[in-house]
Amino acid sequence: MKAVNQVAAADTLSGPRVAFNVERIREDFPVLKQRVHGKPLVYLDSAATSQKPKVVIDTVTQYYLAENSNIHRGIHFLSEQATRAFEDSRAKVARFLNASTAQEIVFVRGATEGINLVAQSFGRMRVKAGDEIIISAMEHHSNIVPWQILCQETGAVLRVVPINDRGEFLVDEYAKLLSPKTRLVSVVHVSNALGTINPVKRIVEMAHSRGVPVLIDGAQAAPHLTVDVGELDCDFYVFSSHKLFGPTGVGVVYGKAHHLEAMPPYQGGGDMILSVTFEKTLYNVIPFKFEAGTPHIAGVIGLGAAIDYLDGVGLDRIAAYESGLLAYATEAVSAVPGVRLIGTAKEKASIVTFVLEGVHAHDIGTILDQEGIAIRTGHHCAQPVLQRFGVPATARASLAFYNTRGEIDALVRGIRKVTELFG
Ligand code: ALA
Repeated sequence: MKAVNQVAAADTLSGPRVAFNVERIREDFPVLKQRVHGKPLVYLDSAATSQKPKVVIDTVTQYYLAENSNIHRGIHFLSEQATRAFEDSRAKVARFLNASTAQEIVFVRGATEGINLVAQSFGRMRVKAGDEIIISAMEHHSNIVPWQILCQETGAVLRVVPINDRGEFLVDEYAKLLSPKTRLVSVVHVSNALGTINPVKRIVEMAHSRGVPVLIDGAQAAPHLTVDVGELDCDFYVFSSHKLFGPTGVGVVYGKAHHLEAMPPYQGGGDMILSVTFEKTLYNVIPFKFEAGTPHIAGVIGLGAAIDYLDGVGLDRIAAYESGLLAYATEAVSAVPGVRLIGTAKEKASIVTFVLEGVHAHDIGTILDQEGIAIRTGHHCAQPVLQRFGVPATARASLAFYNTRGEIDALVRGIRKVTELFG
């Protein structure tokens, strides 16, 4: 096996643009250079949160060093500069998602808050007792609980599209669940627990043929795939900055302008108003109507830097590189005796989830940690999907374009060590 971090021929992709050289990419991520427990850090937990390129860290630092000011409020130099940078980020996100206009981009705290916003504003407006909301069996808790809350409040019913043993969304079962009672569909683009890439365009088409709007949870998709909300024609798309190599505490809701216009505010406060008297408040135009209070200005500007960085590398090239890395990891991990992969869909992105016969996932995580290898173990905030596979916990290695085959080899050596220790 190769030493960790050693460049393998297959870690370099050539394409029409600049060659993709993973060792060069890794230079951009200072955190990856360190040792953990005396071993080179092998960071395989990017689905929990991704590492940040130096340009993002520098952008946030520069904002606090020289530009810090509140936005949309001041007429002084710093405030105007911060406002411009904040709104530039909105335009970058709109371009990144191929939204028709930056007005369709609402900044929130994360994908979770984005789904809660849509559930509480759009959902309450649209759903009443007896109506149905469709999700899938592979949702993260953040795409389950906000709909359960809405159902409790309204008397609506949550319907769940089953998945097969590979962890694939069953389109035929979905077709059966869609009915005149369906008022909303909310599904994940890429499953955080299984890595399955769902056929979201088809899911949207089928819902739209019945006039049903669709939200897509893109938290695990945006960092790995090119997302085009125009082509998908989804009504809402949410993602988190921190999984997209940007700062924590920032998320994005893309919403079609006509929906956002019609929706009531989610939270009240400063910036979301045009005028306030004790008798009546007039709300601001979209997207500001949904951005009450001072936002995470530095974080939003940092997200803009992350998008610029990704544009520079090229998401198409990232997807091609990661697809090779995932195939390599899947084969190598599944070859270890006692390993069972959870999630073997034909279409997958960047996630290898597994259980090891006779060993609790937390023990795997603890032993790998001693080897400097960071993975996530447990239920991955997706308990129902683990119940579907009859396991209480799994071990999950999640990849990003800064990972190497050498790191996958280290992971495999680590798993073999676990099997030796547990006999
Ligand atoms: N949702 C994140 C994960 O899958 C935190 O780990």
